[in-house]
Amino acid sequence: MTEGVNPAPLPRHVGIIMDGNGRWARAHGLPREEGHERGSDSVRTVVRAARRIGVPALTLFAFSSQNWDRPPEEVFRLMELLRRFLIQERSEILDNGIRLITVGDTERLPPHVREPLVELMAASAHNEGMVLCLALSYGGREMIAKACREMCQAAQAGTLDPSEVSVETVESYLPSSKLLPQLDLLIRTSGEHRISNFFLWETAYAELYFTEKMWPEFTEEDLVSALHDFAQRERRFGRTSDQLEDEVLPAGRSVAGMD
Ligand code: FPP
Repeated sequence: MTEGVNPAPLPRHVGIIMDGNGRWARAHGLPREEGHERGSDSVRTVVRAARRIGVPALTLFAFSSQNWDRPPEEVFRLMELLRRFLIQERSEILDNGIRLITVGDTERLPPHVREPLVELMAASAHNEGMVLCLALSYGGREMIAKACREMCQAAQAGTLDPSEVSVETVESYLPSSKLLPQLDLLIRTSGEHRISNFFLWETAYAELYFTEKMWPEFTEEDLVSALHDFAQRERRFGRTSDQLEDEVLPAGRSVAGMD
């Protein structure tokens, strides 16, 4: 695409299920931890690219609620990688106006991860260039169950009328709706076609993009391909193509310069 001509609509919020670290390692005769190590390099590349392109918000599914059940040694290695990422990328995140946030049960993270995480979130809180959200100890079903619990508590306390509960009410109990724009594009690597308990509520109208590439192989060019693919999609939100011609649907910013 030529810069400035026919700019493609850019998703307001991209989520990525970074899958295939283990299979990539096995295919290269390496231990699983080496796959996660290389996956961490892809994280750096993709965050940098998303910032450069102008994606307003990026969520990376870095550790699921279910990942705690992996062998303790692998959990330990993933926590070490997270800690290292937070320390090594601190200045790049701050220098590039990136605001770091999280979704998930971060209270479960060990203190040596939580401390640099909380510190960097506070230090970057006023940045406006891009939101980088790490989904950590995150489960979509767990988030919805928590929202239900809180709504029930509010109903018991008399501050929420159950007959008034709407889509907007549920949304207001989900942290993602307070912290992030609407999820427009969900990317999953490694050829698996599943949501795997990621953003269950939030994917309602997200465009899904699957690639055979394993996460350690995912490059800036792959991100650009996904964004170009997104730009071609007709998003009808339950309406017809004819209706779309007559109205402007909510769309992301238009940005040229993805090439
Ligand atoms: C899935 O691959 C990946 C994970 C469970 C962890 C993702 C972590 C990283 C990319 C590195 C650290 C993250 C940050 C933010 C620095 P898998 O292990 O399930 O792969 P497999 O399905 O091939 O076994």
